[in-house]
Amino acid sequence: MKVAVLGAGPAGLYFAISMKRRNPAHEITVFERNKPDDTFGWGVVLSAETLDNLAANDAVSAAWIREYFAYWDDIAVIHKGVRTVSTGHGFCGIGRKRLLLLLQRRARDLGIELSFETEIDDPRPFMESHDLVIGADGLNSRARSAFAEVFRPDIDVRKCKFVWLGTRQKFDDAFTFIFEETEHGWVWAHAYQFESETATFIVECSEETWAKWGFGDMTREQSIAACERIFAKHLGGHSLISNAGHLRGSAWINFPRVLCERWSHKNLALLGDASASAHFSIGSGTKLALESAVALADYLHSEPGLSAAFDKYESARRTEVLRLQSAARNSLEWFEEVERYLELDPVQFNYSLLTRSQRISHENLRLRDPEWLGGAEAWFQRRAGNTDNVRRAPMFAPFQLRDLRLENRVVVSPMAQYKAVDGCPTDWHFAHYAERAKGGAGLVYIEMTCVSPEGRITPGCTGFYAPEHEVAWKRLVDFVHAETEAKICAQIGHSGAKGSTQLGWQQIDAPLESGNWPLISASDVGWSPANQVPKAMDRSDMARIKGQFVASTEMAARCGFDMLEIHAAHGYLLSSFITPLTNHRTDEYGGSLENRLRYPLEIFHAVRTVWPAHKPISVRISANDWMGDEGITPAEAVEIARLLQAAGVDICDVSAGQTSIRARPVYGRMFQTPFSDRIRNETGMATMAVGNIYEPDHVNSILLAGRADLVCLARPHLADPYWTLHAAVQLGDRDVKWPDPYLNGRDQLYRLADRTATTGGVGGLKV
Ligand SMILES: Cc1cc2nc3c(=O)[nH]c(=O)nc-3n(C[C@H](O)[C@H](O)[C@H](O)COP(=O)(O)OP(=O)(O)OC[C@H]3O[C@@H](n4cnc5c(N)ncnc54)[C@H](O)[C@@H]3O)c2cc1C
Ligand SMILES: Cc1cc2nc3c(=O)[nH]c(=O)nc-3n(C[C@H](O)[C@H](O)[C@H](O)COP(=O)(O)O)c2cc1C
Repeated sequence: MKVAVLGAGPAGLYFAISMKRRNPAHEITVFERNKPDDTFGWGVVLSAETLDNLAANDAVSAAWIREYFAYWDDIAVIHKGVRTVSTGHGFCGIGRKRLLLLLQRRARDLGIELSFETEIDDPRPFMESHDLVIGADGLNSRARSAFAEVFRPDIDVRKCKFVWLGTRQKFDDAFTFIFEETEHGWVWAHAYQFESETATFIVECSEETWAKWGFGDMTREQSIAACERIFAKHLGGHSLISNAGHLRGSAWINFPRVLCERWSHKNLALLGDASASAHFSIGSGTKLALESAVALADYLHSEPGLSAAFDKYESARRTEVLRLQSAARNSLEWFEEVERYLELDPVQFNYSLLTRSQRISHENLRLRDPEWLGGAEAWFQRRAGNTDNVRRAPMFAPFQLRDLRLENRVVVSPMAQYKAVDGCPTDWHFAHYAERAKGGAGLVYIEMTCVSPEGRITPGCTGFYAPEHEVAWKRLVDFVHAETEAKICAQIGHSGAKGSTQLGWQQIDAPLESGNWPLISASDVGWSPANQVPKAMDRSDMARIKGQFVASTEMAARCGFDMLEIHAAHGYLLSSFITPLTNHRTDEYGGSLENRLRYPLEIFHAVRTVWPAHKPISVRISANDWMGDEGITPAEAVEIARLLQAAGVDICDVSAGQTSIRARPVYGRMFQTPFSDRIRNETGMATMAVGNIYEPDHVNSILLAGRADLVCLARPHLADPYWTLHAAVQLGDRDVKWPDPYLNGRDQLYRLADRTATTGGVGGLKV
């Protein structure tokens, strides 16, 4: 095969080598616009595992690379003048220039032609003259732009500015992150040694700080001098060096995240950064490029033709690329928003940094550095006011709101049971909630309990509006207080436009087949074309419903609930005021965010006056309508939280969505937690996170990273009422209280867990 490779970066060179190794008869030329040793950049990070994969592909080049590998185990974070070190991270790196020179040598030895100083503007002539053309020409690929309508690239130019520098200062004991506050804002560095005499020193800051410093108008030398001043105390008198001499300007860039819908067209395939990029902060761009090169070369030899090989290449590599890009996105977003976290205590800041990509979990950190993690856990416990037993996981730290003290941070999220009769909880509710209260969670919610019969979502929803409701709820609350350590929270709400619908396991959100009742909402916007159009509330409706919220709160107080939550999420009545999707009012209850929050806040103030002063009140919100700027965005949710906080709301329960049938949520593990994180760290308000959180590891990492104060789990508690007790067994925690009659069962579980842990089976620590 006659092959043209455009670009002699890691992707192009390694592809050429991999092809030639599979069939020496291939005639391969690699075209590169720069000189052989003209490459910019310093060290690249790989892993021992990647190198093993490379050795299986070409033992010769792998052995050469291994010879030059620098290894390091520690990560140091310098923040607020404190240097915190954790270990066990296991990286290795090599100079980019060294890597490319080794690959060039290997390519030449194999008979590959290398044509340097050859700029390729257009891949088309090569597609005519060669059997196969590889576009490995990096982030700004011309091969990609020549067929942009086919490849459909999605290039997201990210917010931070960075410059890739080097230094002779030693960073050989740890991969080091340095955060410096300057007169123009925060500037930080990612520093790591890759050769005995040279370290990479990437300097990064927000676009705003960059502009204030005037880096855009500086020459390269001036830029470097400014960076040297900023990081002087970490450079030990050494200078910073640029080797981007062939590039114009000061070499600061914004990272472009590249995605392409397709990676091939006719006899042209994109490879490496040209097809997909991964942010440098997770150090995987070169790994992706090299591993994709091997895969493409493989398929070109295993499949019957180019088209079949390309199909296989795209389907096999896309999942891996997306996985890494997702971790890279989490990591780069963390750096983009780092100013949100810089006020955290150094321990928490360090933990947040280490877990930023969500690839390293809490228990994974324990395996890497048990001592450091133990210290961080102890810090968390002490800060939570627990001085007795500080070696416990964060989920077992107490939490205080007003006079309410929770034993731990796990919450049974509110979940409608649809089992009430005329609003009255039945034996089902007693048994269901009593079981969850025995299950070890610090706080158990009852479902959205409605302030009136018309305020119910379905005929099976519970209420706080008839004397028999009070009797039934009080019986439950008394049991929880007498027999368990759990506290119990009442969630009150009104269904608004989403009322008069079928039970959860029937056709959810669809109107009843018969017996529908009239609906009201902020505006006359129906939930869907199939649902009734509600009446837009007038002042008398508003006064009446406020009175119902107050009466329900008084009932909840008489029942003895420990905490109250106002449900202002998920498209129900109060949520219909908050989101512009359903609030089209032109009076002082519509329009600006202040206006849209006016009625929910009036309810809060009215309820607060009758709810016991020593007990907290929470508000649940939808922090993202998943409708872009048309609806509530996570940024606006921060403003909502500020208004709630100013009104005296004790904690914000941060949910999302369910406000429009047009919404396009992006689901995933812990997918709503970033909204809680943002609110908590931008406003200082206490928050609860919820949404697809299901492992103890998730709970612990959310808490220790400061992404929420409490963690709600809903569906996991349907499957396992004893989720917290079981989590404790799994984590090896022996200090949770089990109900006395169950102690024999507990002891057996502990013994079984100890046995599986010592025989190396599952159980014990989960990673
Ligand atoms: C600051 C920074 C730090 C990084 N750190 C790491 C790290 O630690 N670990 C890691 O794995 N990855 C890292 N990366 C990413 C890594 O550099 C890239 O992902 C990797 O180099 C991709 O290889 P590539 O061959 O696809 O592209 P490139 O390395 O960009 O190579 C493309 C080649 O094509 C040439 N070329 C471009 N256009 C033309 C043209 N028109 N004609 C001829 N030749 C052309 C270029 O000169 C270049 O040599 C980092 C990236 C940056 C920016
Ligand atoms: C069956 C069921 C009923 C629910 N009912 C309520 C409710 O009454 N009030 C509420 O705020 N959220 C309700 N939710 C939402 C949950 O509290 C939670 O926010 C959501 O399920 C995401 O958490 P998870 O991934 O842990 O299940 C309900 C969820 C389920 C599965």
